[in-house]
Amino acid sequence: MSEQKKSSNYISIKESRKIIKENLRQMKYYESLKRKNLDPKSFTCAMHDENNIIEIDDLHTCFFTDTGTVKSVNGVSFDIPKNKIVGVVGESGCGKSVTSLSIMQLVQAPQGQVVGGEIRFNSDELGIDENGKKLGYNIAKMPTKEMYKIRGKDITMIFQEPMTSLNPVFTIGYQLDEVSFVHTPDIAKEDAKKKSIEMLEKVGIAMPEHVYKSYPHELSGGMRQRVMIAMALAGNPKLIIADEPTTALDVTIQAQILELLKDLQKSQGCSIMLITHDLGVIAEMADEVVVMYAGRVIEKGTAHEIFHDPKHPYTIGLQKSKPLLTSPSDEPLFSIPGQVPNPINLPNACYFKNRCDKCFNKCDGEYPPVIKISETHYVSCYLYGEQ
Ligand SMILES: Nc1ncnc2c1ncn2[C@@H]1O[C@H](COP(=O)(O)OP(=O)(O)OP(=O)(O)O)[C@@H](O)[C@H]1O
Ligand code: SF4
Ligand SMILES: [Mg+2]
Repeated sequence: MSEQKKSSNYISIKESRKIIKENLRQMKYYESLKRKNLDPKSFTCAMHDENNIIEIDDLHTCFFTDTGTVKSVNGVSFDIPKNKIVGVVGESGCGKSVTSLSIMQLVQAPQGQVVGGEIRFNSDELGIDENGKKLGYNIAKMPTKEMYKIRGKDITMIFQEPMTSLNPVFTIGYQLDEVSFVHTPDIAKEDAKKKSIEMLEKVGIAMPEHVYKSYPHELSGGMRQRVMIAMALAGNPKLIIADEPTTALDVTIQAQILELLKDLQKSQGCSIMLITHDLGVIAEMADEVVVMYAGRVIEKGTAHEIFHDPKHPYTIGLQKSKPLLTSPSDEPLFSIPGQVPNPINLPNACYFKNRCDKCFNKCDGEYPPVIKISETHYVSCYLYGEQ
């Protein structure tokens, strides 16, 4: 293929047929793995640190499309410690949602598949291995029917738009009771109702008996999101994944919902993976922050490190592009120039290179390694480490 054709993403019919054939082969292979009756040993592994609820290690998730393989998550590694809120930020399309859907085994199949890496989930059921290390499930290799044991109970998810997650033809009560029936199949109907009303009270809904009988369209956006939070909490989860939980709400309701999530995280003693575009939300909520760019983690650290000592030029740019109340009204908003590289033809160099104002000769080399700045702070950039 000529250079011009390559850069314009042109593919011939012959190439397209070849891609489709190869995609079918790959999708069949990964789908068959999910249905296999595997020995539990093949999807359990030792946790690196038993204080983590989840450890994502070199995760690769791809979409097999007719124009080529989209590497949406391309070697992502980070941990979520127990009882902590970890914020995940990055611009649209950088792989935040695909990372979270990989944890839930909810990536759109068959074209979307986890093709490499480990997602170690710290489970209390599995005990310890022969070296005394706590055992966990490797979600990346777990067959679908085993995943039912933890999805929706130990790990739950709150989506951006509650109206699309709630079923419009059933009452809130019916849908909340369903959650109890799934988690505790022998629970009596009255007990399930009692529990649902308790959950509604817990998430700050006034007149819970009335809301119990209501349909989703009768509630406001904020109330619907509270109902979703109640559902997510019903099975006493160890990890809640909140993907842009407040983006569809106005600012005052957003603050209330975030406050509620924070309070519940503390009282229930669970962890939250909080995905958002909003750096203000992260600053308010998160203990640790992961910054993603084009399917990779480019910087991670404690919230204090990321906000007071950002290292990667992209993280610095992200913070500069946030408007402040003190900014002069005639000053134009800062934006990072350029675009994210095409996820089908990713360069073998720093993905931020074409947008970086700090780029120097070393950046022509391969993708920068992870440099340790402190025990908790890591960055992938040639500006740091040995020059
Ligand atoms: N079903 C799909 N088929 C093909 N590509 C997909 C699919 N879902 C996601 N992708 C691709 O995966 C990449 C990561 O998408 P993802 O939804 O994780 O981004 P995101 O960081 O959550 O963005 P946003 O902030 O807009 O929600 C994008 O390049 C997207 O085009
Ligand atoms: S490695 Fe080079 S191009 Fe990439 S962010 Fe760092 S300075 Fe910029
Ligand atoms: Mg998303």
